[in-house]
Amino acid sequence: MNRTMNRKRALLPCVIALALAGLTACTNNQQGAAPKGKVSIIPMPVSVQETPDSFLLDKQTVLVATTPEDKQSAGLFNAWLKELTGYELTVAEQGDKNAIVLHTGTDSSKHAEGYTLKVGKDRIDINGNDGSGTFYGIQTLIQLLPVEKGSTLWIPGADINDYPRFPYRGLHLDVGRHFFSADFVKKYIDLLAMHKMNTFHWHLTEDQGWRIEIKKYPRLQEVASKRKESMVGHYNDQKFDGKPYGGYYTQEEIKDVVAYATARHVTVIPEIEMPGHSLAALTAYPYLGCTGGPYEVGTKWGVFDDIYCAGNDSTFLFLQDVLDEVMALFPSKYIHIGGDEAPKTRWEKCPKCQKRMKDEGLKDVHALQSYFIQRMEKYLNSKGRRIIGWDEILEGGLAPDATVMSWRGEEGGIAAAKQKHDVIMTPGNYCYFDHYQSKGKNEPVAIGGYTPVSEVYSYEPIPAGLSKEEASYIKGAQANVWSEYMPNAEHVEYMVYPRATAMAEVLWSPAEKRNYDDFVERLKQHLHRLDMKKVNYAKHVFEIRGEVDSTASGVSVKLDSKLDGGKIFYTTDGSAPSPKGTAYTNPIVIDKAETIRALVFLDDKPYGNEYTQPFVFHKALAKKVTLAQPPNGNYNPGSPFALVNGIEGVKEYNDNQWFGYSGNNMEATVDLDSVQDIHSVGVNILNAKGPGIYPPKQVTFLVSDDGQHFKEVYKQTTFAKEGINQVRAPLQQVKGRYVKLVAQNTGTIPAGAEGAGSKAWLFVDEIIIN
Ligand code: ACM
Ligand code: ZN
Repeated sequence: MNRTMNRKRALLPCVIALALAGLTACTNNQQGAAPKGKVSIIPMPVSVQETPDSFLLDKQTVLVATTPEDKQSAGLFNAWLKELTGYELTVAEQGDKNAIVLHTGTDSSKHAEGYTLKVGKDRIDINGNDGSGTFYGIQTLIQLLPVEKGSTLWIPGADINDYPRFPYRGLHLDVGRHFFSADFVKKYIDLLAMHKMNTFHWHLTEDQGWRIEIKKYPRLQEVASKRKESMVGHYNDQKFDGKPYGGYYTQEEIKDVVAYATARHVTVIPEIEMPGHSLAALTAYPYLGCTGGPYEVGTKWGVFDDIYCAGNDSTFLFLQDVLDEVMALFPSKYIHIGGDEAPKTRWEKCPKCQKRMKDEGLKDVHALQSYFIQRMEKYLNSKGRRIIGWDEILEGGLAPDATVMSWRGEEGGIAAAKQKHDVIMTPGNYCYFDHYQSKGKNEPVAIGGYTPVSEVYSYEPIPAGLSKEEASYIKGAQANVWSEYMPNAEHVEYMVYPRATAMAEVLWSPAEKRNYDDFVERLKQHLHRLDMKKVNYAKHVFEIRGEVDSTASGVSVKLDSKLDGGKIFYTTDGSAPSPKGTAYTNPIVIDKAETIRALVFLDDKPYGNEYTQPFVFHKALAKKVTLAQPPNGNYNPGSPFALVNGIEGVKEYNDNQWFGYSGNNMEATVDLDSVQDIHSVGVNILNAKGPGIYPPKQVTFLVSDDGQHFKEVYKQTTFAKEGINQVRAPLQQVKGRYVKLVAQNTGTIPAGAEGAGSKAWLFVDEIIIN
């Protein structure tokens, strides 16, 4: 997959020099015509000026560092060098010839975490604004080294000025659904730091397992850290493995991980979930729940009704005790207290919770959740800490000092910023690395969703429409790694890299410097660095990507692969693509119902997953669509075009085609450009009650000549099929220019049904008119 690297020419001068010098090591004196290495850095720095002089690093080069922090950074450089060459450099307090000189506190740009890096002929200077800046300068220097072992270490001359765009650059890991060793967590942190990310969000407690040792509550270790069995396959299959599962981190391990992170300028933010996702803790201490149990540590994924009782003061005392031990282990300013996905079913019925509401004058259970979070916030504030919570903490009123993590789309982040609260953006469409990264048939099972590297890379953390002042509350973003479908460390790496590499650039680099094609070119080099770290990264970035566009007469499909030397072949007759078939040259115009199958070949060998996309052909293709209101959260394909692009959403809803409305109705009007005979109207409706996607109360189609006066031509009220319901209505003698679809959301999910009490999702895709 990789081109021959440009480092090769660096070999020659040194080989000659070795011969001449009788096998002594190369030194800077033999530079002569110094070779020019290529600068290929991820994340892209603010400014890079390449200069003519190169620096030759050899065994005599000295690393100069004076502060303990800089000596630590120097040690990390040596660790990389040793892996690459087998030797380390001497770390000294002085030196200016054949030296790499670290200084902290002298970055002329004065940006927090910023640095300058100058590579001259016989000296390299890294000036960090602070210890983190110097550390990031070292990370950049590492990326200026060749990637092939055995290369002569010519470092290309450069003048770099760099600092981050956002102060919060995060990566999360759920160790509740699956447990990962402390050693793996350290590797995860090391990789994060290598990408100039600075926050590790450690999701430590879940329904399916409590993973942090709390000395005052031994049953958290004995009971809550274990479950009877785990799900296998997808949640929808409801299959179990029958094998006990468990694990937790001792406090000693946690201290070790935190120290390891600190050395890499990474803050570890622990998350202790409340009031929901707490079934494991309730199992260990049933008095913490509303019903008193008995409970069982979760074996299914999903959301559970049993949560901490908000009427019981013992709940708060327990959580305060837990947080006391947590704060002693984690020096972070922020403690994450969860707050997401807490059904209020038990609180509605619990006498203690009802009494609390009455005593405190709380008007509903959402206000009770707000009371819960605010009470915990007060405690943490009294200890000098601040809280972060998932965006549900907005419901019922935000705690005064809370930072909001916006995960159900951007709306929570927008609302919090408008209320002048700090925000971390983690919208699912871009930031959930448990989503699929390819639509290939051979992908390992994932939760759903579709978030390829290109989509991560396209993410803009500042939501559109915020004022400059409101935007200043957006502190950064984070990718979340929920581990239901990641049973082991290798699988975590497969899901996280290279998507985290793309996220790192989103968070660090200036927005105007972002360029996907250029990123992929740099990534080719960068993957060698991930190889050195033995990372099991995914390679989908080189697969075919298809982009559907509107044309004057309908839609066309542009295919692209970033694989060097790769050639794309495709078919439209259902047969498998082959290098003997039709080579792709120009966008493929869709002029009938057909399936495009395409594959990239390297030297006639297929590479990666096939691109397979069926198209429907109809009168509304690429016609103008007006939506009465936009779809919600993560189920917004971005443009109404997706409703008439010839692609029908699939039942896994991982294709960014479905228009999702949470509690709301959908109304869409298609303009056919002229009054025409209309022989049929149709649309697809998804019925997937498990995840809360309910069919509408009714669907109606209306037709109009002028866009003002509409006449109903079809109505349907049952959509019984599990999965996709194809509404297809033949019409007699109907003419019109405008076709309006109205789908009425079923509203609040009724008692006894999956997701009872929540707003139902309505999923609609592809309006089909003939
Ligand atoms: C979440 O994904 N439940 C925050
Ligand atoms: Zn209760």
